[in-house]
Amino acid sequence: MENTLPKPHTGQYQEVSSLLIHWYAHHKRDLPWRTADAWGVWVSEIMLQQTRVSTVIPFYLKFMQRFPTIQQFAQTPIEEVLHYWAGLGYYARVRNLHRAAVLVVQQHNGIIPMQIRQLIALPGIGRYTAGAILSLTGSVPAPLVDANVTRILCRVFGITGDPASAAVQKMLWNTAERMLPIQAFAEHNQALMELGEVICTPAEPQCDKCPICSCCYAASTPAPQALPEYAPARKKVPQVHACIIVEGIPGCYFMVQRPYHGLWGGLWEFPRVLCQPEETWKEAAQRAADELLGIQVRVAKKIATIKHVVTHHNITLHACLATSVNIVRNSSMAKQIALCDWQRYPCAAPQLLVRKAAEKTLTQPSVQQILPL
Ligand code: ADE
Repeated sequence: MENTLPKPHTGQYQEVSSLLIHWYAHHKRDLPWRTADAWGVWVSEIMLQQTRVSTVIPFYLKFMQRFPTIQQFAQTPIEEVLHYWAGLGYYARVRNLHRAAVLVVQQHNGIIPMQIRQLIALPGIGRYTAGAILSLTGSVPAPLVDANVTRILCRVFGITGDPASAAVQKMLWNTAERMLPIQAFAEHNQALMELGEVICTPAEPQCDKCPICSCCYAASTPAPQALPEYAPARKKVPQVHACIIVEGIPGCYFMVQRPYHGLWGGLWEFPRVLCQPEETWKEAAQRAADELLGIQVRVAKKIATIKHVVTHHNITLHACLATSVNIVRNSSMAKQIALCDWQRYPCAAPQLLVRKAAEKTLTQPSVQQILPL
C-alpha cells in the first residue's frame, strides 16, 4: 500500500511529543536501567533485544552487581561472563558486548564514547543501540527506532508498507528524528518505548488508554492493529534433537562445550545431535555418544522431552540416560563433570531443563537399578 497521508507538520510532532512526555512522567515503570549510566543503559539495551522486560530484570540486576563497570566486565574471561547470560538466549549478544567492552578499554581508556560514529564502530552496536545509549543517558539528542517505536510511528502517522524495507526504514528514522524534542529527548524516547510495551501493543492496542489517541491515524480506523504492515514471518522449521547423559567416572557425567561461534556458543551441554530423517531419537542419542564421546551406549531411560524455539527452528529435544557398553576411542571434546558441579558450567535454557530432569532422576535410589555398570 502507498503512503498517501499528508506529511505531518512540526506542530503535530511537537504535540505528540509533549503528550507522550506528560503521560510518561505519570505512568513510567520503575525499571533498574533508567539511569544516566551509559554502561547500564548499554547492557540493558543488549539484554532487551528479543527479550521481555520481565525476563531481563533479574539477569540485569545480577549482571550489574557482578560487573558494575565496563572495566570489570572487560577484564573478566568470556567463560565467566557466560554464566551471567546463561538462560537469556541469543549468546552472540554477550560475545559482542564483551569484544566491544575490551575495545572501549583499549581504545577509549574505558570511557564509553558518546559519539554515534564511534559507538556504531563497536561490535553489536547498531543505530538503535547507539541512539539509546546517547539519548537515554540524557547526553545527546539522538533518535531511536525499535519494534515498539516502529509500531507507534506507523500507527500514528499512517505509515504503510513493510517496516523491514529500506524505504519504510528511512521514513521511520526521519520521522523519529523530526519528532525528537531538543530538551526532554531522554523522556521522549523512553515514553515511546513504554507506550509501545504497555498500551500500543501489537495485537490489542488499548486506544482508550492512549495519551496520543487524538493524534493517531490508526486509532480512527476500525482496525488499528492492521499497522504496521510487516511481511508474513518465515515459518519456523521443526527439528528433532537427541542428547545423552552418560556416566564415566562414578558420579561424573560427560558434557561437551560448544564452539564459541554459532548457536549456544561457548555453553556446555550433554552430547547432542540433530536427528536425521529416518533415524529414531534413540538411534540419534546413541550416535551422539559415538560421535561426540567415542562411546557405544545402551539407552536406558528417556528423562525429558523439551520444546524450544530459536530464530528459525522449533526444536524438540529428547534427553535420555544411557549406560556405557564400550569405549571405542578417547574424546578430547568431552569433560566428565560431577553432578554437584554442573551449575559451574553455563548452559542454555533447554539444557538447563535437561539438567534438572537428570538431577531429579539420578538422585532417586531406583536409578542404581536402571543403570547397572
Ligand atoms: N525496550 C527496549 N529498551 C527499553 C527501555 N529502555 N525501557 C523499556 N523497554 C525497553
